[in-house]
Amino acid sequence: MLRNSCQGQKIVNRMGTAARSWANKKPNESMRFIVTTFVGIVFGFLIGLSVPTLSLTKLNLPSSLLPNSDLSYIEDKRSGISTQTALNALSSLKGNNNSSTQAGNSSDTSKIWVPTNPRGAERLPPNIVSSESDLYLRRLWGNPNEDLTSTPPKYLVTFTVGFDQKLNIDAAVKKFSENFTILLFHYDGRTTEWDEFEWSKRAIHVSARRQTKWWYAKRFLHPDVVAAYDYIFIWDEDLGVDQFNAEEYIRLVRKHGLEISQPGLEPNRGLTWQMTKRRGDREVHKETEEKPGWCSDPHLPPCAGFVEIMAPVFSRDAWRCVWHMIQNDLVHGWGLDFALRKCVEPAHEKIGVVDSQWIVHQTVPSLGNQGQAQDGKAPWQGVRERCRKEWTMFQSRMSNAERAYYKSIGIDPNNSTSH
Ligand SMILES: *[C@@H]1O[C@H](CO)[C@@H](O)[C@H](O)[C@H]1NC(C)=O
Ligand SMILES: *[C@@H]1O[C@H](CO)[C@@H](O)[C@H](O)[C@H]1NC(C)=O
Ligand SMILES: *[C@@H]1O[C@H](CO)[C@@H](O)[C@H](O)[C@H]1NC(C)=O
Ligand SMILES: *[C@@H]1O[C@H](CO)[C@@H](O)[C@H](O)[C@H]1NC(C)=O
Ligand SMILES: *[C@@H]1O[C@H](CO)[C@@H](O)[C@H](O)[C@H]1NC(C)=O
Ligand SMILES: *[C@@H]1O[C@H](CO)[C@@H](O)[C@H](O)[C@H]1NC(C)=O
Repeated sequence: MLRNSCQGQKIVNRMGTAARSWANKKPNESMRFIVTTFVGIVFGFLIGLSVPTLSLTKLNLPSSLLPNSDLSYIEDKRSGISTQTALNALSSLKGNNNSSTQAGNSSDTSKIWVPTNPRGAERLPPNIVSSESDLYLRRLWGNPNEDLTSTPPKYLVTFTVGFDQKLNIDAAVKKFSENFTILLFHYDGRTTEWDEFEWSKRAIHVSARRQTKWWYAKRFLHPDVVAAYDYIFIWDEDLGVDQFNAEEYIRLVRKHGLEISQPGLEPNRGLTWQMTKRRGDREVHKETEEKPGWCSDPHLPPCAGFVEIMAPVFSRDAWRCVWHMIQNDLVHGWGLDFALRKCVEPAHEKIGVVDSQWIVHQTVPSLGNQGQAQDGKAPWQGVRERCRKEWTMFQSRMSNAERAYYKSIGIDPNNSTSH
């Protein structure tokens, strides 16, 4: 809206300039100038039309500005639009210059404008709009409605992999039944080699070198694209899954109403957080005790409302929120775990750890070694430093965003209940 009002102002200025310089110019030059101005006006006019609520009543074209000569061979070098194209576009708008028509409340009922359609698709009849998708593989022949033989997979599991981890991934994938779509993100460019595994042929392979799990997730797991799946697993490649059964995991997550979850972690030694350690005596836990002073509130991370980023599982709705929170440039995702709670309410009840289906974190340095040696530091050091830096950046972006929001609605940010 703001940009378009600027556009309108610019057109008015141009018209003023045109009028002032009119008298001073030689006929040829004037004509050229008028043509240029006119095309500029039409161009601005068309841009303005793309925002339906813009009032166009002040932009009536003075008929004196309309040239009589044949202009079809003249091109406006600045805008790159041929005059003829612009004139055609203008004439197609004739008989349709009522701004409320543009707003979609048609006196001209032959034009489609459905404000409830997804943004940008308002010109389409709603029944043709396919705003969501899936990752189901289809055949090139036959009836489309017979492409999927069995019931389509309801869950999606993604692994970010290098071929060196093939045995581990092979073991992991085998824990996921035909009810799962399998999607591999390859950070080492080796994709076809995976075909030695039978399951690889029904998996989806996405390859982009040296990227992280969250980079892929942001680009290839848009909530509208994975809307077909009830649950989405976004997992690292170094997880031991001997004690894990995916169907049973889903059953427990449903039973306990977990929107964001992860399997409990073994072994207990060397783990950073109490929350994600497996407990032997229960199906699921949603809170824990940490070292003294670590939790300002027992309902807040890292004591509750918290899972780590190595093996998270998201419900469809939770993922729709989390995807929006992932920053395009903060590829390591550090800090995301502490912010997940902002996506579900109440977080301390809907985020939890499944203890009876657990995994082993093997801490194989993998992508960390894909860094670059710099300033005499080992590649993994540079990666680790960036992880920490991203964590701080994410935190400050989040708190700035929250402060800006509260300020915008007139609440003292220091007095909000967001913490
Ligand atoms: C377009 O609007 C102008 C002024 O508002 C009016 O004079 C003209 O008749 C309108 N054209 C059509 C086709 O409605
Ligand atoms: C524009 O359309 C509205 C409602 O469709 C109508 O009330 C108004 O008179 C129209 N204005 C012009 C200039 O045709
Ligand atoms: C828009 O169209 C609807 C139905 O066609 C009508 O009820 C409503 O009054 C219109 N609104 C305006 C502002 O013309
Ligand atoms: C896959 O899902 C269907 C329907 O929910 C279920 O009946 C079937 O047991 C599942 N397959 C496995 C291997 O659990
Ligand atoms: C809120 O707190 C910050 C730092 O704690 C302070 O700089 C700021 O002035 C406070 N704002 C208001 C409106 O009190
Ligand atoms: C916070 O807001 C509440 C209600 O809006 C008010 O009663 C209270 O005094 C505020 N506290 C501070 C420190 O501004």
